[in-house]
Amino acid sequence: MPFVTLREVLAEAKRGNYAVGAFNTNNMEIVQAIVEAAEEEKSPVILQASQGALKYAGIEYITAMVQAAVRSVSVPVVLHLDHGTSFEQTMQCLKYGFTSVMFDGSKYPLAENIALTRKVAEVAHAMGASIEGELGKIGGTEDDISVAERDVLFTDPAEAEQFVAETQVDALAVAIGTAHGPYKGEPVLDFERLAAINSRVAAPLVLHGASGVPDASIKRAIEIGIQKINIDTELRQAFTRAVRQVVEHQPQEFDPRKILGPAKEEMKQIVKAKMRLFGCSGKA
Ligand code: G3H
Ligand code: 13P
Ligand code: ZN
Repeated sequence: MPFVTLREVLAEAKRGNYAVGAFNTNNMEIVQAIVEAAEEEKSPVILQASQGALKYAGIEYITAMVQAAVRSVSVPVVLHLDHGTSFEQTMQCLKYGFTSVMFDGSKYPLAENIALTRKVAEVAHAMGASIEGELGKIGGTEDDISVAERDVLFTDPAEAEQFVAETQVDALAVAIGTAHGPYKGEPVLDFERLAAINSRVAAPLVLHGASGVPDASIKRAIEIGIQKINIDTELRQAFTRAVRQVVEHQPQEFDPRKILGPAKEEMKQIVKAKMRLFGCSGKA
C-alpha cells in the first residue's frame, strides 16, 4: 500500500466516527513497533517526526526507514511532520516524500499565524500533500493553567472558524487542556469548547499531548470531533521501562538486540491498545 495523505485517512475517520493515532518516531525500533502494530490491528496509521526527531536521526534515515516499513504492509500510512516551525523545513519534508506536514504557528498572533500557515498550505496542496495547523497554546505539563488564563491560551471557536477558512488546512490542532509530556495530575479537558469549535469547523480536529489522558476523556473527545490523536510520551516511557527491565535484571546482557527487542515489543503493545481505544483498529 503506498503512502496516503492525512486528508484521506481523516476523511474516512470522520465518516466512521473514529480517530486515527499519530505516533512519534525517532528510530528504527519505534518505526517497526508502530507499523507492525498497525498491520496486526488492520488500522490506518500516522507516523510523525518532530524537528527534534529529524535532527536526531536525519531526514534521510527517517524517510528511508518509513518507506522500507511501508513496503511490507497493506494498511494506509501517512508520513507527517510534527510541529514544523519553518517554511523551509516543511518544504524539505515534502521534497523527501512526507505526505503531510504540520505548520505550528501558534506562537504568532492570529493574522501572522494565518499568513504563514496559508503559505505552507498552498505549496503542500499543490504537491498533493496535506497540512495541519495549530491555533491556541498547547502547554507543557509543567504549565499550571488557571481558569482565567484558559480564555487567553485555549483555542477560540470563532478564531478557529476564521483560521480554517483562511488557511485551508486539512486538520486543526486545538488547545483544550491537554499538554505535552507526563501529567502531574489528571488532565481536565474543556469539552464545551471542543464542541463549540466542532460546530464551527468542518475540518478534522487534532488532540496533542494525548499520553496520560484517561480513556473516558479520549472517547468523549472522539465523539465531539477529534479525529487525529498524538501519542509520544507513552511510547518513550514504554521503551525506557523495557530497557531498564533488561538492564536491571540481566546486568550481564550486552547485545543491543536483546535490550532493544523487548522495548520494541512493549511499544507495539501500547500502539495496539491505543488503536483499539481510538476505534481505528479494523478500519484499514
Ligand atoms: O510535541 C512534541 C513531541 O512529543 C515531540 O517531541 O520535540 O522532543 O521530539 P520532541
Ligand atoms: P505526548 O508526548 O504528550 O503524547 O504528546 C505528543 C504530541 O502531541 C506530539 O505532537
Ligand atoms: Zn504536539
